[in-house]
Amino acid sequence: MTVLRTSGDGAGKRAEQFRDYKAEQRACVKEFYRLNHTRQTLDFVVGKKRQYLTLDRRRMGVWEALEFLNTLVDDSDPDIELSQLDHNLQTAEAIREAGHPRWFVLTGLIHDLGKVLWLYGEPQWAVVGDTFPVGCAYSDRIVFQEFFAENPDSRNPLYQTECGVYERGCGLDKVHFSWGHDEYLYHVVKDYLPEEALYMIRYHSAYPIHRERAYEHLMDEHDREMFRWVRAFNPFDLYSKSDERPDAAALRPFYEDLIAEYFPAELRW
Ligand SMILES: [Fe+2]
Repeated sequence: MTVLRTSGDGAGKRAEQFRDYKAEQRACVKEFYRLNHTRQTLDFVVGKKRQYLTLDRRRMGVWEALEFLNTLVDDSDPDIELSQLDHNLQTAEAIREAGHPRWFVLTGLIHDLGKVLWLYGEPQWAVVGDTFPVGCAYSDRIVFQEFFAENPDSRNPLYQTECGVYERGCGLDKVHFSWGHDEYLYHVVKDYLPEEALYMIRYHSAYPIHRERAYEHLMDEHDREMFRWVRAFNPFDLYSKSDERPDAAALRPFYEDLIAEYFPAELRW
């Protein structure tokens, strides 16, 4: 498939210039969200979970997965032109420099590994981009909200009430989100990391919730508590991006040790 490249002036940006869709108006980002918002239906999400959450595709160690990913350039990200490995190492290094615990550093390193979905042949609109609940009304705080008009779920009145198929306050674990790398990786690593890390991984693309504070009516108290960690993670995901390349070979021994501290030699993907 054609990989549309994203723009490459992440270095030296002010915070408000990151993720500035209005200023960028870049056609590939817009087209990406048109496809994503048109095709991510509740049925689609449930089907993808059935397809992938058996975790019987392959067995692969964490560093191997990092290298496997390294050809992907993310259509949905307007900020950067670095490889996935560079981004993952930059994120982890920024967390390490801030003095956070080792599990937090490891979470920075691995948070995007679910993007291997792309290498299984999934289109990018089913791998990356901001995630949002499906099966209930679309918040107007989702980017390019206008594209939901073409989603078949828009014409199902059951899915278009405030809570849709869910109960008020049911907790996000019961809510289906648009399918992508966050949910997939959460299932791959959920037996091995602290819960705070799992929330970061599962919801780091849920910008409508962690940034825009939409969908609070579906959250429970525990979600609210744990989203403090999702929000603590976000600046490292976002603002650690620069065009300066980390030295992967030099950093590898430190990260191999950290990976071995939490994970077995191979994970089920
Ligand atoms: Fe991500």
